[in-house]
This record gives sequence, C-alpha cells and structure tokens, in this order.
Amino acid sequence: MSNMVVFGSQWGDEGKGKVVDMLAEKADAIVRFQGGNNAGHTLVVDGEQCILHLIPSGILHPGKQCLIGNGVVLDPFVFCEELDKLAAKGVDVSPTRVMISKKTHVIMPYHCLMDAARESSKSEDGKIGTTGRGIGPCYEDKMNRCGIRAGDFADPELLKGKIAKALEEKNVLFQHLYGTEPVDAQAVFDKVMPVAERLVPYLGDVSSAIQAADCVLFEGAQGTHLDIDHGTYPFVTSSNTVTANAASGSGCSPRELDRIIAIVKAYTTRVGSGPFPTELTDADGDYLQSQGHEFGATTGRKRRCGWLDLVVLKESARLNGPTELAITKLDVLSGLKEVKLCVGYKYKGETVAYPPQEQNGMAYVTPVYETLPGWDEDITGARSWDDLPGNAVRYLKRIEEISGVRIGIVSVGPDRVQTF
Ligand code: GDP
Ligand code: IMO
Ligand code: MG
Repeated sequence: MSNMVVFGSQWGDEGKGKVVDMLAEKADAIVRFQGGNNAGHTLVVDGEQCILHLIPSGILHPGKQCLIGNGVVLDPFVFCEELDKLAAKGVDVSPTRVMISKKTHVIMPYHCLMDAARESSKSEDGKIGTTGRGIGPCYEDKMNRCGIRAGDFADPELLKGKIAKALEEKNVLFQHLYGTEPVDAQAVFDKVMPVAERLVPYLGDVSSAIQAADCVLFEGAQGTHLDIDHGTYPFVTSSNTVTANAASGSGCSPRELDRIIAIVKAYTTRVGSGPFPTELTDADGDYLQSQGHEFGATTGRKRRCGWLDLVVLKESARLNGPTELAITKLDVLSGLKEVKLCVGYKYKGETVAYPPQEQNGMAYVTPVYETLPGWDEDITGARSWDDLPGNAVRYLKRIEEISGVRIGIVSVGPDRVQTF
C-alpha cells in the first residue's frame, strides 16, 4: 500500500487535522515530522471536538500507531498533558501505540522564556507574533548543536550536564540583554525529571517503525508559507513545513512519499504578523471570520481572513508536488454574493505568477482578482459533487484549472463525515 503526506498549502490552519483523522483509517501509522505544539489540529467526531498539539491526529482510531519523528520539537509537559486528556476520554495512549524518536529535540522551560523575551524586546512592526511555545529557540539549539534530545531523558547525568551547558550562554542573554532573571540549571533539572521519567517508555526508533508499517500517513503542521526557507521570512515558523521534510523529519527516504495531499482552505487565513496580500478588512473579511469561527486553535487569537490566493497555492504546488488537493471549509463561503480568486500579483509594475523572492516582497504586491458568482445554499450536507450548487462547482473547477492539480477531497463541515 502507498504512503500519504498531508501538508498545509497556505499559512496553517487549513484543516489538516480533520483530513488526517479521516485518512488515518486507511493507515497503519501516523507520524508528525516537524513543528511542535505551535500546531493546533482540530478533529470532530460525532459532534465531539478534540484539539491536538503534538500527538498525531490518528490517535482517535484505535490500534493505529502514532509516531513523533526526529524533526519535531517536543514540549514534554504538553505531551504529558495531552496524554492525560486523551486517557481521560478512554483513548489508549500507551507506549505500544505512541512512540517518540530518541532523536526528537525537547523544548525546555528556558526555550519558552527566550521566545517571550525575544518577542517582547522587538518593536511592534518587528514582532513575529509567535505562539510563545519556545519553538524557535528549541530549533536554534538543535542547529547550534547544544539541544536536549528525547533520548537524553534516559540518562539523567547526561541531561543535567547538558542543561547546565545550554544555560551558560542563555543566562548571559537573559540577564544582560533581556534584563530578566537568570535560570537555575538545578531547578530546571528538578522540574523536568518527573516528566522525563514518564517519557522514557515512549522512546523508540521511529525510522524503523515507519519501515515496518505498510501504510504511513505523514502529518504536516503549519503551512508552506510559514516554512523557514520558502515562507514569508522572517514572519515564518522555525521548521521546514514542505513535504520534502516528511522524509528527513521522520527518518525515511523521499521515495517512500507517494500520495501527496495539499490541504487548501477555500479562502485564506493567517494568525500572527506578516504579509497577506488578499487580506480583507471589510465586511467580507468579518463574514469569513465569523462563519468560519476563525480563532487560533493554539492561542485563541482571531485569524486574519481573505480571499483564496492561487499565487500562494501555485507556489505550494511547485514546492510540495501534490498529487491532489483537499479543499476544506467550502461551506463557509455559502451566502456570499460573489467570491474572488487571486490569480496573479502586480509587483513593481509587472504581473507575476509566483511570490517575489525578495525578503518581504509579498508585502508590496497587489492581488489581481477573478470574480465568480457566489451561492446561497447550505452545503454542509453535501456528500458528492452532484450535491453542490453549480456556482460552487464552478469555483472548485476554476481552482483545479489554475493550480493544475485535481481536487481529490472536499470538506463541507468540521465533522469527520462532512467530506466527499
Ligand atoms: P489545522 O491546524 O490545519 O489542523 O486546522 P485547525 O484545526 O487549526 O483549524 C481548522 C478549523 O476548521 C477547525 O476548527 C476545524 O474543526 C474546522 N474545519 C475543518 N474543516 C472544515 C470544514 O470543511 N468546514 C467547516 N465549517 N469547518 C471546518
Ligand atoms: P497549524 O499546524 C497557524 C505561526 C504563528 C506565528 C509564526 C511563528 O495548526 O496549522 P512559532 O510559534 O511557530 O515560532 O510562530 O507561525 N504559526 C501558526 N499559524 N497555524 C499553525 O499551526 C501555526 N504554527 C505557528 O502564529 O505567526
Ligand atoms: Mg491549527
């Protein structure tokens, strides 16, 4: 059987969690390969909502293996909280089902402090608007080769030494640059040890587990335009969110990636700072925000909303190689008289088909729109193309035509079953 990769094609929150939950039925193992608990993936099953930040979105399917790959940054406190919440609902979260790669980097309390100190030291227009979860500082330590890895939790002496070493430099910054209190290494060690001990039974070889499974579902977090290299730098997250990282972030070869599914929200949203060419600050924007209940699943912040940007989608297609699109939240567009698709940008006097490559170039483009007629019908009960009003079909067909990728999945409501 072939493997599947699900990735976000915009700025996150496209509905990846819902689609992963739906596809997990066909998989043996579901693996997260990048990001951390900056992600908030929402699953709705029989009307009951479950938001996951770290544990793969296949967990509600009994018997499926849920793997956390080496490319993830894992906050052990959040991981334990998530385990407890799921266990309280009767979900099996034992180490026979859930595995963390020994190579996964761990978010330590001082990473969260650094994230907050950095953000608050920036001027208003320089703030990234991070989730404050310590993501960037943890990836920094990984690249700087002073990170703590989950495997270190099995060796308390090694862990203690690594914490002390990591804090030597950080405390200089805390005290002398950010004007905050230094962090005591022993206190960090004492705080972390109980969760570290709890995590040890979950440690394993994720790469081999992937190799042993017949069908693996790779669950991307964030979105392509938040990618550290290809996104709207510097207003991005600190990992590679593109599908190529599904292989390196989990420990398999790129040849293992078969079906590649781009999750595309039928309009666009963004949380945090950064350019957003099709952003709407008018009544249509408010309509999308309220109809779509567009609040961040991690921080609760209101999401900025705008029209679907096909320049953004085409860039995602060339970076990720999708074999199909999954269009989500089509139901949210019902009731709009007209719907717009951004089909190009005006940039420095020219029409361009792809985002400018210069830093912050996206902030200086003007969207070129194609306007299509809207539809009034409630489509949340649609279960096939035939159930959709003609104008909704026309909208979807136009997305296929311009992006050059066929639509394989359409989602018309938050519930697992509201899909065809
Ligand atoms: P993710 O981060 O990509 O997994 O997306 P989030 O869970 O952060 O945000 C997507 C939101 O839209 C969640 O509240 C989902 O329950 C909801 N959702 C997903 N698909 C649909 C859909 O087709 N229609 C509607 N109305 N809501 C949806
Ligand atoms: P999911 O997986 C939407 C955004 C933050 C901020 C920027 C950097 O649910 O789609 P970070 O804390 O990662 O350093 O913040 O990235 N961001 C997300 N936006 N969905 C997410 O995840 C996000 N994860 C990070 O808002 O702008
Ligand atoms: Mg989300």
